[in-house]
Amino acid sequence: MKLPDNEIRDITKLLEEGKPLPDKYRFMLFGDDREIELVWNGKSQEVTNVVLPFQTIEHVDEPRAEEKLLMQPDLFDLASGRQLKGWTNKLIWGDNKFVLSSLKSGPLREEIEANGGIKLIYIDPPFDVGADFTLELKVGGEELTKAPNVLEEIAYRDTWAKGSDSFLCMLSERLRLASNLLSKDGTIFIHCDYRQSSAIKLILDEVFGPQNFLNEIIWGYGAGGNPSLHFPRKHDSIFWYRKSEQFSLFNSKESIMRVPYDESTLTTHYKKTDENGRKFRVQNVNGKEYRTYADEGKLVTDVWTDIGAQNATSPISNESTGYPTQKPEMLLRRVITSSTRPGDIVCDFFCGSGTTAAVAEKLGRKWITSDLGKFAIHTTRKRLIGVQRELKTQDKEFRAFEILNLGKYERQLFVTGIDEIDAKTLNQKELNKEQAFIRLISTAYKAEPISGFRTFRAKKAGRVVAIGPVDMPVSRLFAEQVVDECIEKGVTKVDLLGFEFEMGLFPSIQDEAASKGVDLVLKHIPKEVFDKRAVEKGEARFHDVAYIEIRPHFKGNSVAIELTNYSVFYTQGVTSFAEDNLKNGGSQIVVENGQVIKISKDKNGFVNPREVLTKNWHDWIDYWSIDFDFTNRKEIIRVKDAKTNEVKETWTGDFIFENEWQSFRTRQDRTLELKSIFNEMPPGKRKIAVKVVDIFGNDTMKVITVTIGEKR
Ligand SMILES: C[S@@+](CC[C@H](N)C(=O)[O-])C[C@H]1O[C@@H](n2cnc3c(N)ncnc32)[C@H](O)[C@@H]1O
Repeated sequence: MKLPDNEIRDITKLLEEGKPLPDKYRFMLFGDDREIELVWNGKSQEVTNVVLPFQTIEHVDEPRAEEKLLMQPDLFDLASGRQLKGWTNKLIWGDNKFVLSSLKSGPLREEIEANGGIKLIYIDPPFDVGADFTLELKVGGEELTKAPNVLEEIAYRDTWAKGSDSFLCMLSERLRLASNLLSKDGTIFIHCDYRQSSAIKLILDEVFGPQNFLNEIIWGYGAGGNPSLHFPRKHDSIFWYRKSEQFSLFNSKESIMRVPYDESTLTTHYKKTDENGRKFRVQNVNGKEYRTYADEGKLVTDVWTDIGAQNATSPISNESTGYPTQKPEMLLRRVITSSTRPGDIVCDFFCGSGTTAAVAEKLGRKWITSDLGKFAIHTTRKRLIGVQRELKTQDKEFRAFEILNLGKYERQLFVTGIDEIDAKTLNQKELNKEQAFIRLISTAYKAEPISGFRTFRAKKAGRVVAIGPVDMPVSRLFAEQVVDECIEKGVTKVDLLGFEFEMGLFPSIQDEAASKGVDLVLKHIPKEVFDKRAVEKGEARFHDVAYIEIRPHFKGNSVAIELTNYSVFYTQGVTSFAEDNLKNGGSQIVVENGQVIKISKDKNGFVNPREVLTKNWHDWIDYWSIDFDFTNRKEIIRVKDAKTNEVKETWTGDFIFENEWQSFRTRQDRTLELKSIFNEMPPGKRKIAVKVVDIFGNDTMKVITVTIGEKR
């Protein structure tokens, strides 16, 4: 477009004065003639192209019954009854931005395409500010509120810092990545509510094209209170888009897709009865007669009112996991059935309690699912073990799943160590931020900052101190770099501080360090480091990682494991501050150094003696599992060379934890076994690994060496 001279002059003047241009120029200056467009601060078409290798932490598979094994001997290991070949479902811990980009351009893509590509994506992003990170949990008989941890708070801040603007930035990048991953004949469902639905619809039109819109499903779930000034808001919107016109599967005849006819339709049209007593009607279409039966029901419209939310969240429901935003399985059953076949791959990158994966498994679909919360991953793990057990009891097929970490090689992406990162890639502001962060942590840890090292940041009482990143879990690679620097500089004692640690990191990393002569202690940085008052009062307590004690029991060539002790050292909040803030007559539950404590004030404002609610060490344990032969499954990763595109398989030096026996609490059944069954094994030396996950979703492991068949 040719602008008149006076317009060009005005624009130039405004630009020179650093003033914003009036809105009208948006349409005059740009070639694109989009009629409707959603614009927000920070909008970009760019997506990340980071590819990280997935690290397999755990393999979960219920052993198959003998007759199943004999029917498919090449698919299963006859000795263990577990799946050997074929597709393994994937539960991935990590930010879905990197999960999506690594699936899109990494080596797993090939496997996905070889299995027919991704046919359905359902996502239920967090549309209620921060709802997923504060959880009500049970410890012993008491309810406890789990506050968000630092990583969760950062994720929450990234998503909501600028309200809708940052939420839309977050979502649109994920949608662009998801669109690339989706198979040409695949579809995507996006679950949202009135808060963001209008904006999300416009983004979807932009990413998938308005011609690929299929439905806006209104899920009306009823229940709840009555507001005084408007109608109750009792529905969510689920937008359904296809990738392209190649989509052609709509399973409208399946029973989950049908709802009963209205009474008036039945009395008006379904008057005839066949020899089996079934009501039917006959319709003539293009000269051909069709018979439809009343009991088959009609195809549900895009308004779904037959699925109540209370099915999922009610404490009496057997579906309930206690996850705050859990959706009902019936909803996902309809979504997945509508447009996939058994064997198709179904994905959910905001998995929460794992509803999509649970339903996909029950419907015989393959699945990939992810979440950045450890608690979500843990809830999904337990739920899917439950599904495997249920399908096994019903004599139905199920697939193994693996838990993957995305984090091992992420360090270089984040501002973690100023000396290692090319200074040119960091601007002064970032450098200052990093230095301020190190100062803050060192002060709270009462350590003295030091410089000139790659990973050491401070020293304290004869030990050097390394500090993990602020926005990511401490990865194995980082821990290894710390140990390497210790060896290089002749340092024998090091504390490694982190907000969160990669899954499966302990105790192997400490053992590895000890074998090299380095005493490595890992400590959690408390959230209180950001609270000046708490730091000044010395109330920011850095706590040790959890500690497990176990005892093996032998019977011939069999071994059973008993859990004999477990200690956690959590502190949540500052108890004395909580006491100061309590109202007269009020009470609150706090966590201090691994004890759940009730604090209360009487009517006159006097603080009552603290009441310790955790009675048993096992109250903290939510789940534990055993791998009876830990070193028999090596962790192999496939990495694509960016230049040659060649995929290389390498052993990481780690082993995959094979989940052979487990006991866990559910919302419905709070009991936990403390001794495993006896497991028969071939004679010889074996490494047995025991994994314990606490009620916050954090895991720790212990490995012991036993000799099977030895005379005792
Ligand atoms: C609304 S919940 C999903 C609930 C799920 N549909 C269910 O039935 O349980 C949203 C989830 O998205 C996760 N989440 C938020 N941001 C994320 C991100 N960047 N990457 C991965 N997961 C994320 C949250 O941890 C939360 O579990």
